[in-house]
Amino acid sequence: MSTTQYYESGALLAQYLLFHYGDSGEVSPHAPPPPGSLEFPARCASLCIESTPEPHRGRALDLGCAVGRAAYELSRGCGEVLGIDYSATFVDACLALKRDGRLRYRLPVEGDISLPSIARVPAGISRDSVHFSRGDACALPDDIGTFGIVLMANLIDRLSDPAACIARLPSLVRPGGTLVITTPATWMPGFTPRENWLGGRLVDGRPLRTIDALHEKLDPDFQAIGSHDMPFLIREHARKFQWSVALATVWRRRE
Ligand SMILES: C[S@@+](CC[C@H](N)C(=O)[O-])C[C@H]1O[C@@H](n2cnc3c(N)ncnc32)[C@H](O)[C@@H]1O
Repeated sequence: MSTTQYYESGALLAQYLLFHYGDSGEVSPHAPPPPGSLEFPARCASLCIESTPEPHRGRALDLGCAVGRAAYELSRGCGEVLGIDYSATFVDACLALKRDGRLRYRLPVEGDISLPSIARVPAGISRDSVHFSRGDACALPDDIGTFGIVLMANLIDRLSDPAACIARLPSLVRPGGTLVITTPATWMPGFTPRENWLGGRLVDGRPLRTIDALHEKLDPDFQAIGSHDMPFLIREHARKFQWSVALATVWRRRE
């Protein structure tokens, strides 16, 4: 399967519906989940909102929104939210959740065995203020406008050209607005040609880490205002999980 097709499969759709909307017993049925590893999209959205002064909470963008939970959570603090993802399968799921507030899917158990479940947009969220469209984070349209909050959660190490995406950020985030980038720094040649990796490689024999590359690229237009470790747990099936600790960095667009 090509990496552009990776997020189109039914298996990945179920994995992300569970990751975004599943409860503790569904995500980790046989043991307590590692502390603080659930509700990753909601924690990302809270970090965005808490980091952003009130006047800049009008319009938010969730770039690489997958099945939309962080976009919905951003709407608790922002007037209007746009979620963009490259995967047509994921954007269709976002639109079904917007229309119906719920989406039936099957939880992977083992092999061909699965159980029925339902992803639900949490209560108290106005679905009307959240919009979704399909798009390429490396080639966003010129007329997309500006945002007081831009969230890029675990996106940069899945892009073919992360530098192109980052170069667009100064014209995307309003002066005084907030940019939140989280990444587990899982650089893989299948998603990002090695020469485009922002970090995780040796340059002239010296290690280049993702955090250093982010500073190099963002410091001219953004002030770094915070850095956090954010664990998250993704269930592959009932007895197999990915436990990761993303690096979350928070940036203020210089005035
Ligand atoms: C690792 S997932 C993270 C999803 C979500 N932000 C989260 O934290 O759960 C990466 C997401 O980026 C999306 N994606 C990959 N390449 C993209 C691109 N060029 N433009 C927009 N989205 C992209 C994938 O479809 C997938 O939803």
